Amino acid sequence: MHRRNHIQFTRYLRDEAATNALGAELAARLEPGLIIYLCGDLGAGKTALTRAILRALGFVGKVKSPTYTLVEPYEVSRLNLYHFDFYRFNDPHEWLDAGFRDYFNAESICLVEWPEKADGLLPPADVRILLEIQDVGRMADITAETKKGEQCLQRMAQ
Ligand SMILES: Nc1ncnc2c1ncn2[C@@H]1O[C@H](COP(=O)(O)OP(=O)(O)O)[C@@H](O)[C@H]1O
Ligand SMILES: [Mg+2]
Repeated sequence: MHRRNHIQFTRYLRDEAATNALGAELAARLEPGLIIYLCGDLGAGKTALTRAILRALGFVGKVKSPTYTLVEPYEVSRLNLYHFDFYRFNDPHEWLDAGFRDYFNAESICLVEWPEKADGLLPPADVRILLEIQDVGRMADITAETKKGEQCLQRMAQ
């Protein structure tokens, strides 16, 4: 039997420094093949969290939002990381047309903003992170959705 959502926890992120700390924690746990969905409204901090992950991995260049390019590839710390943003998709089939299926393989780590826009076609998430804007700061709701996701989040939940 599958035990789904075995690991689920929230983190209050008071300020961007807290977002950066969460990014560093996640960066240390990334494994090839991992798929992370980043959910939440515009401005919630999906790109900021991705930037924090990349910085923690040692990437020093500019981390641009892939809003227009749809994908930004990174090679850092022996990892192939792809940062997607599907906000501009009007229909999930645009994901197929864009030819992104091959990016989701056992060697690559995929971080996906607006996965809802490719719903039903995108490979499922190992880890889903929902960022919610608070009066002050953000709330991060973090869920493992596969065994691989559970391994990633092990010992982070408390
Ligand atoms: N924990 C936090 N508290 C307050 N502001 C934050 C926090 N984390 C990130 N931010 C800010 O929120 C904004 C998030 O923007 P961005 O990452 O582009 O959002 P998204 O990609 O979700 O649309 C940035 O201006 C960033 O500095
Ligand atoms: Mg963004």
